[in-house]
Amino acid sequence: MTARRERRTKVWGFVNQKGGVGKTTLAVNHAAELARRGRRVLLIDGDSQGSALDWQAQRARMELAAIIAVVGFPRDTIHHEVEQHRGDYDDIVIDAPGRAESVARAVIVASDVVIIPVQPSPYDIWASGEVLALLEQSRVFRPELVAAWVINRRIVNTAIGRDIKSQLEGHGPRLLDATIAQRVIFSEAAARGLAVYEADPGSVADSEIQALTTELEAITNG
Ligand SMILES: Nc1ncnc2c1ncn2[C@@H]1O[C@H](COP(=O)(O)OP(=O)(O)OP(=O)(O)O)[C@@H](O)[C@H]1O
Ligand SMILES: [Mg+2]
Repeated sequence: MTARRERRTKVWGFVNQKGGVGKTTLAVNHAAELARRGRRVLLIDGDSQGSALDWQAQRARMELAAIIAVVGFPRDTIHHEVEQHRGDYDDIVIDAPGRAESVARAVIVASDVVIIPVQPSPYDIWASGEVLALLEQSRVFRPELVAAWVINRRIVNTAIGRDIKSQLEGHGPRLLDATIAQRVIFSEAAARGLAVYEADPGSVADSEIQALTTELEAITNG
């Protein structure tokens, strides 16, 4: 039997009730990167804003082939929806909504790995208590859940302050080594319905997403 057949569907949830931290951007690019690695990927848009669905629709408008499947399911029964699709895909990536806490909770329950994008600003760190509280509640049902912070929109050539690192690391989820910098290519690519690796192959942004996906796979396989 091949390794691929043995691998069970992995569910990745991008969660943070704080708005605009990069849940959709990272969910779309992680999903696309998994597909680039030869996997069958479903992206579930759990946000009624429908940004991931808009991204897929933009691809269609641009007459680009779909690289992943995208469905919208912005409801607090999303964990049941995930079960319907397990087996049909190698990976299911969920883009959680900003405010709708009941949906975010269901995304956490559905996920094998919860990724929490956070911007390296004190405001985002202070606001992270909300997502930590949700994770804590979900641990009752999912003691094996893996959760990780990923710093997004890091300012290029700026070290992440030791205080920010220590504040994040002191709170349950691990802090990923991979970080994503503030780069205009992320919004430019999205506007064209592209993953960053399609918009600018070999770019630093492409390498950052590759490093993110590689590290996430390593922590779940290790
Ligand atoms: N690393 C980045 N560099 C530059 N722009 C970014 C980056 N990450 C996200 N953005 C931009 O920031 C904005 C918010 O990102 P995104 O929509 O991914 O956040 P979100 O957490 O999904 O927001 P919401 O809570 O509203 O769903 C978007 O315009 C996106 O293009
Ligand atoms: Mg979003």
